[in-house]
Amino acid sequence: MKRENVIGRANVEDTPELEAYYASLEGEALGALWNVANEIEPWFPQPKSVPILWKWRRIEPFVRRAPELVAAERAARRVVMLVNPGRKEWSAAAGLLYTGVQIMNPGEFTSAHRHQASALRFIMEGRGAYTVVDGERMDLGARDLVLTPNGTWHDHGIDASGTQCIWQDGLDIPLMNSLDANFYEVHPDIVQKPSGLSRENWSKPYSPVFKYGWEESYKALTQSASHSQFDGKVYEYKNPLSGGPIMPTIGAQLQLLKPGEETKAHRHTGSAIYQVAQGRGWSEIAGQRFEWEEKDIFALPSWAPHRHGAHEESVLFSFNDFPAMRALALYREEPA
Ligand SMILES: [Fe+2]
Ligand SMILES: [Fe+2]
Repeated sequence: MKRENVIGRANVEDTPELEAYYASLEGEALGALWNVANEIEPWFPQPKSVPILWKWRRIEPFVRRAPELVAAERAARRVVMLVNPGRKEWSAAAGLLYTGVQIMNPGEFTSAHRHQASALRFIMEGRGAYTVVDGERMDLGARDLVLTPNGTWHDHGIDASGTQCIWQDGLDIPLMNSLDANFYEVHPDIVQKPSGLSRENWSKPYSPVFKYGWEESYKALTQSASHSQFDGKVYEYKNPLSGGPIMPTIGAQLQLLKPGEETKAHRHTGSAIYQVAQGRGWSEIAGQRFEWEEKDIFALPSWAPHRHGAHEESVLFSFNDFPAMRALALYREEPA
């Protein structure tokens, strides 16, 4: 029990009589709120996720080893997950977001499936990767972003003429599971026949654009007029029809930091997972400093004060659960 000597907060002293009462409540699947109230209604968010940086040079050997040990079709998705030490039971990298690094060899493919979780992938390296989403085939290169929104059929693979490919997957699996709203289905065909996708009268709750190529996105970032003292220059990947986020639960953005630039600290509800697309720099999260370079991945827990700096011109890719937070009117932000 966490007692607080503040009016409006629970502050009940244990007595033998009360302890006996609590024990009998438990036997009836009941409980005394005042014993847990201060814990389950904290003054501000108390994420179990910890700030963490996964250095690419530490992850890479494990990722490269996976294809030697497990066949792509047996694994279904051959992925090394990034697991936050505070969120193991949810397989989350931070908060309600999952991330992993997937590796495929030329000629390999995954079977088509769909799920309630929304997903994106940010290509890290390789040639010949493709994803088919609801019948539309997209060829992918380094730093391209591709969406597989909730409920879309998708499969992916590497052309036989390609090279070993690696990408980062980002999904809201922990959110779906904490809402008890997850579903998974396999497609009647092993892989989809690319057929093209009609976007007439688009009424889906996600972007009709599934692929955001690196060249155009980087160009849009450098030309972006939006500069924030907390984030540097920002380009948000958007649904061009609504002007809103790419998917109902997941948003994504690029940040450009100039050499020597240091942003001001802020904090907000919602978590984010970053991948360093280019450059070298650092982020300070909840008082911890993390030095990062290209392909490093780091996790920002909800409400943790954070700021970024760059040793050289750097681009940070990140995805977040802000659209889910905003849809539920839970998004809050303040300087920290
Ligand atoms: Fe999937
Ligand atoms: Fe932020």
